[in-house]
Amino acid sequence: MLRLAARRTFASAPARRLPLAAARKFHSVPPPRQDKPGSHSRTDAEVEFEYPPEHELPSSEPVSGTGGQYVKPTLAGFSLDGNVGVVTGGARGLGLVIGQGMVFSGADLALVDMNSEIPRASSGSLTADTRSSVPKVTAHYADVSDADSVEACIAEIIQQHGKIDNLVTSAGFTENFEATNYPIDRVRKLWGVNVDGTYLFATSVARHLMERKSPGSMVMIGSMSGAIVNVPQPQAPYNASKAAVRHLAASLAVEWAHAGIRVNCISPGYMLTALTEKILDEKPDLKKKWVSLIPQGKMGLPQDLMGPVAFLLSDASRYVTGADIRVDGGYTLT
Ligand SMILES: NC(=O)c1ccc[n+]([C@@H]2O[C@H](COP(=O)([O-])OP(=O)(O)OC[C@H]3O[C@@H](n4cnc5c(N)ncnc54)[C@H](O)[C@@H]3O)[C@@H](O)[C@H]2O)c1
Repeated sequence: MLRLAARRTFASAPARRLPLAAARKFHSVPPPRQDKPGSHSRTDAEVEFEYPPEHELPSSEPVSGTGGQYVKPTLAGFSLDGNVGVVTGGARGLGLVIGQGMVFSGADLALVDMNSEIPRASSGSLTADTRSSVPKVTAHYADVSDADSVEACIAEIIQQHGKIDNLVTSAGFTENFEATNYPIDRVRKLWGVNVDGTYLFATSVARHLMERKSPGSMVMIGSMSGAIVNVPQPQAPYNASKAAVRHLAASLAVEWAHAGIRVNCISPGYMLTALTEKILDEKPDLKKKWVSLIPQGKMGLPQDLMGPVAFLLSDASRYVTGADIRVDGGYTLT
């Protein structure tokens, strides 16, 4: 593992975590409802999930078996060759594999996370030895919800890579609590990461692109939860945050079109990451329920996002901006 300089992390800031039971007392809210929902069209208060502290989160590795870089003819427009890409939330889960896909497509890469241990960001583990030139892959600390931290991180990336062309905002998290039992400090923290974090990174990279008078492309990782209400787990603040991300992408696409900066959103459905796997292992009924609602009959894999992200970041999509691509196995169609 590549260790970043010691900085503040989720795990090292326990004082900010208010245990849920204590928070409930503080907010004088009653315990969760005990009535069972009558049908799957309602949320179930018994499905509760508090995003774990960092030391309890499973680490994740780059994936294998994706075919690596394609050496047979394909449209030149799909290549990210010569680009420098940034992925927030790049230490784990979807962000790490998205970054891997960007390297396969020819980009140099800066992985950003507040996790103090970024998985080995070496060219060897991310390239499957098929690139003719060795990509530059670096790891950087940022708390995406903190403006000063974001500015310092972007400056560090530009100093090390010389420029930024592409951004993917994948830092984000979800929790499941009934709205009436969700401590407001945790709601604000969620919105701070999912919404403010997306906004801060996008605006900072846009300023850099405008200063360079350079075009660029960004992908914001939203969620199908930004368009529909998932059941049975209650997660109103998360759903609202992802609706905000989707509309942020559309709004900034219009605002920055004059500068040649494209902004799109990808809305994943249920994806099988190390974390979702851990949660669902403990809740097999929930997994069964989720899969029963997906027309393709299975959860997605992180590598299912590689192609859509590479498409949106590359010139292959140069007339596509403000779009939302659902990568959800058809979930939101039914
Ligand atoms: N996994 C899914 O099924 C799924 C589905 C739809 C959308 N999404 C979205 O995809 C994105 C990535 O999710 P994931 O499943 O890979 O989650 P994950 O928890 O595995 O990874 C998220 C990463 O973001 C980082 N992060 C959290 N807060 C941060 C902060 N303040 N500053 C910097 N980094 C921070 C974490 O350290 C972690 O490395 C999230 O925005 C999530 O809402 C996930």
